[in-house]
Amino acid sequence: MTLKESFVKIGIHDLEVATSHYVLDLDTLAERHDIDPKKFSIGLGQDTFSMPAPDEDIVTMAAEAAHTLLERHDASKIRQVLFATESSIDQSKAAGVYLHELLGLPANVRSVELKQACYSGTAALQMAVNAIARNPEEQVLVITSDVARYALDSGGEPTQGAGSVAMLISADPNLIEIEPGSGLHTTDVNDFWRPNDSTTPFVDGQLSLDAYLGATTAAWDDLLARRELGLEDIHRFLHHQPFTKMARKQLAALAEHTGTELSDDLIEESMSYNRALGNTYTASLYFALTAQLHNNSDLAGKRLGFFSYGSGAVAEFFTGVVQDNYQDHIYPQHVAKQLDNRVALTYDEYRELHSDFAATSETFTTTKTTNAPFRLSGVTEHQRRYEAQ
Ligand code: CAA
Repeated sequence: MTLKESFVKIGIHDLEVATSHYVLDLDTLAERHDIDPKKFSIGLGQDTFSMPAPDEDIVTMAAEAAHTLLERHDASKIRQVLFATESSIDQSKAAGVYLHELLGLPANVRSVELKQACYSGTAALQMAVNAIARNPEEQVLVITSDVARYALDSGGEPTQGAGSVAMLISADPNLIEIEPGSGLHTTDVNDFWRPNDSTTPFVDGQLSLDAYLGATTAAWDDLLARRELGLEDIHRFLHHQPFTKMARKQLAALAEHTGTELSDDLIEESMSYNRALGNTYTASLYFALTAQLHNNSDLAGKRLGFFSYGSGAVAEFFTGVVQDNYQDHIYPQHVAKQLDNRVALTYDEYRELHSDFAATSETFTTTKTTNAPFRLSGVTEHQRRYEAQ
């Protein structure tokens, strides 16, 4: 066997998603804020956003997504849990350790949390792929899970959201082979950040748009310097979607940068879930992937281009090839159920829920609200308590 033949395909073997109990219709927000609803539906490309109940957080959503995923797999092959988030619940303990316990995973597993705004899910994915290149018989559970909370009455308010995507990374994947060779870009910019003493981020809206476009374009250029690849080799583009219009803006910027015409057909199928979820930070790009796989039955053997972006700022462009039998391994009905089961909030209920949120470790007990398989029951002795139900 030559060295080349000994390389195995590595990538996303399977994935599942979860979101929160509540949903707010942006028409409701527009009406009460005396804003034309088209600003949200067309200007931002958003319809609704998910909002957690008091007994939900990044761990409960992630545990639900991973639990559904692992019902189809042998968890004993998992050697790492890489939990990517920017809405961390603890400054020290990794959210993945709570998840590991809730799922009853074997003890002989590495668990760690990763942070770099919305980007770190991609870092986790690439770390997983590299680990499996050394040990192809092992699998890695990559979790992306976030709650996007902006201040009431702020510019970012209509772009809130909540959701989680759990991905099983393995050799000989059923869904996507992640190809070697990424374009990377890091630059120190204060477009969006959340200091330790704040439950909502500080945002420079215009700077964040410019930083996103600049960093993703630079990542594309870096890829071109390393791989023989052209725009014509990418069948569909996937983006981090803080709001879905951002994907249109990026594609237009890429077209201008490269002097090429790029139709919105290249991204249209990737936006349906994020329009309904709002910003899910680390999970957003992977909800875009999920939507693309669910909305397009003609992807076998086709190459997808992934634009990952996290404010601050880090961007990566990488590619993956959709596997032949991917349609036998997708579950759009699970996403539909997650979205349809959400309970609609009135404007006043939304305001109250938002205002009541406190990042406290003082003792409290939550009222049972979520119907999800795992819930946060409260905090005692400064320790978060989760339970299965
Ligand atoms: N009908 C149709 N469109 C309308 C409209 C109407 N009646 N009224 C306004 N619009 C359009 C505007 O023309 C604009 O579209 P274009 O940008 O294409 O011109 C769009 O609606 C938004 O209008 P504004 O720019 O006036 O909106 P805003 O100032 O209230 O805020 C925002 C927009 C800066 C994105 C704000 O929502 C925000 O701060 N969001 C959080 C930060 C963010 O998401 N940044 C994205 C890049 S950073 C990132 O990706 C990381 C991350 O996840 C946070």
